[in-house]
Amino acid sequence: MRILGIETSCDETAAAVVTGERQILANLVLSQLDEHRPFGGVVPEIAARSHLDHLDALIARALAEAGLGFEDLDGVAATAGPGLIGGVFVGVMTAKAIAAARKLPFLAINHLEGHALSARLTEDLDFPYLLLLVSGGHCQLLAVEGVGAYRRLGTTVDDAAGEAFDKTAKILGLGYPGGPAVERAAAAGETGHHELPRPMKGRHNLDFSFSGLKTAVRHVAAAMDPAPDGSSPAVKNLAADFQAAVGDVLADRCARALTRFAADYGRHAPLVVAGGVAANLYLRGRLAEVAAAAGAALLAPPPWLCTDNAAMIAWAGVERLRLGLRDPLDFAPRPRWPLEQLRRPGTAAAETGRTTA
Ligand code: KG4
Ligand code: ZN
Repeated sequence: MRILGIETSCDETAAAVVTGERQILANLVLSQLDEHRPFGGVVPEIAARSHLDHLDALIARALAEAGLGFEDLDGVAATAGPGLIGGVFVGVMTAKAIAAARKLPFLAINHLEGHALSARLTEDLDFPYLLLLVSGGHCQLLAVEGVGAYRRLGTTVDDAAGEAFDKTAKILGLGYPGGPAVERAAAAGETGHHELPRPMKGRHNLDFSFSGLKTAVRHVAAAMDPAPDGSSPAVKNLAADFQAAVGDVLADRCARALTRFAADYGRHAPLVVAGGVAANLYLRGRLAEVAAAAGAALLAPPPWLCTDNAAMIAWAGVERLRLGLRDPLDFAPRPRWPLEQLRRPGTAAAETGRTTA
């Protein structure tokens, strides 16, 4: 099985070809960073136009790299939400056009399901598992029971973890994109200089909160003299303290979730971490400790598979198509699309294709 994957839900235009044997034949990501940098964040209209300008050529390049033509494909998968809707439309319309012209199955992929299943592309990983999904827009703990079968155990009540990294980077003058910049600054800094809060740590539920931490960083930064400019030792130390606080929160929540999972499923969960923030090596180290303490394994896709890419979308397409799932060509892209709204394969709605929203 060979699936073309397309990802256009944020500021990466991406195309990939993945096989049912977990081979990645091509995986191209075109970042729009330079186009958005002057604005300090992603501008939806610029993103949509840029996807439109680049997607066709990128797909052609991906197929050339894979040594395939459209006639060699078994299906076309595109992110159909959640995300910036203009960009999602570009990817979905392109995928539908290819599917219609070549009479191929079309697969409308939930971007979060792409992240959620990505570890199964690179690891031998069976269901169920515990997933920490940490990206720019999401911070959730999920029990992944199967394709399309997600049980949410906890979520953020305010900001996503990636958002906290991005805002902290902005406050500290570290530039855009924030996550990698904070990680680099933190690696050059030293913890223990600032008392920052650990929101939700010790709570009985499995939810997250990051806005109080961001506000605390803002207060410390406001009192800095000279003002934070991204390069001073004080900025690096604050970045290190911020990252350590995020690490403590994620570690606490995951430890509790592992206990809960073991109680619910009668066995230790493999802990899987996915989403852009999972590219952070310090946080991966903290989570590995938590998993080890619980007698569980930590499985983290390689960093290039954690940040947005089309290989994970193509792979989700493989997973769905081999269960006989496909989507109608009138499937409507969705700006919001919680994972729990996906149908378990075998239920009537899944077999007849998901209805348009
Ligand atoms: O999954 P992703 O590429 O896009 C979304 O679906 O949101 O995640 C992007 C987020 C951004 O907030 C970015 O700052 C964060 O992931 N991120 C990181 C790192 N690399 C990306 N956060 C912390 N450390 C990193 N190394
Ligand atoms: Zn993502």
